[in-house]
Amino acid sequence: MRIRMHVNPTQLHFTRFRGERPPLDGRLVEVEIGCADAQFLFERAAVDSSRLYVGLEIREDFTLLVNKRAKRDGLPVHAVFCHAQLHVKEVFAAGGVERVYVNFPDPWFKRRHHVRRMVDPALADQIAHALRPGGELFFQTDVWAIALDAMATFDADERFVNASGEWSFWKQGNPYGVRSWREQNAEETGLAIWRIMYRRA
Ligand SMILES: C[S@@+](CC[C@H](N)C(=O)[O-])C[C@H]1O[C@@H](n2cnc3c(N)ncnc32)[C@H](O)[C@@H]1O
Repeated sequence: MRIRMHVNPTQLHFTRFRGERPPLDGRLVEVEIGCADAQFLFERAAVDSSRLYVGLEIREDFTLLVNKRAKRDGLPVHAVFCHAQLHVKEVFAAGGVERVYVNFPDPWFKRRHHVRRMVDPALADQIAHALRPGGELFFQTDVWAIALDAMATFDADERFVNASGEWSFWKQGNPYGVRSWREQNAEETGLAIWRIMYRRA
């Protein structure tokens, strides 16, 4: 299947929620926002299959591929076609999520594409709704401007507490023992990665 490289999230087409909700049944839930092929979630599911791993993704073709693979391999991974800044609240009840990952969020690092960036106060509000008190938000990117944007967004929101101290990056690396496709690529090509860890207040 050919999958588009990028879609423009500002298109009206993405405004209405048309995804399929995951089977929320009391298992602890981990969410990756912008999951693409969900490599990260499939690897998490292989480490701990007792949880449910939900990927939110604006490219619908990816969600079809992910759900097909999850079904074939019997893994608790579920991708939902949606626009994360608008639809997290449509998918999860307040406090229903244990952990949120924002891994290498987007290709929109040029100034003129600023409006298309994924991490903004609207996304922070959606995540704050979904995360349980004490729940974790882990952010990582190889693009400095996007790292600064994310820190400015989450540190300015009192619902998130920076685990490394205010306005500080997380220096202990990725603590989950699994890597997203983009993370693997960045590490193998020697790119710097900036990470930030928050707890929901
Ligand atoms: C650079 S890729 C990274 C994929 C994966 N997280 C990784 O680390 O390999 C960013 C992903 O976020 C998705 N995305 C961008 N904006 C989004 C939005 N508003 N809602 C949901 N997904 C979005 C893109 O389609 C793309 O698949």
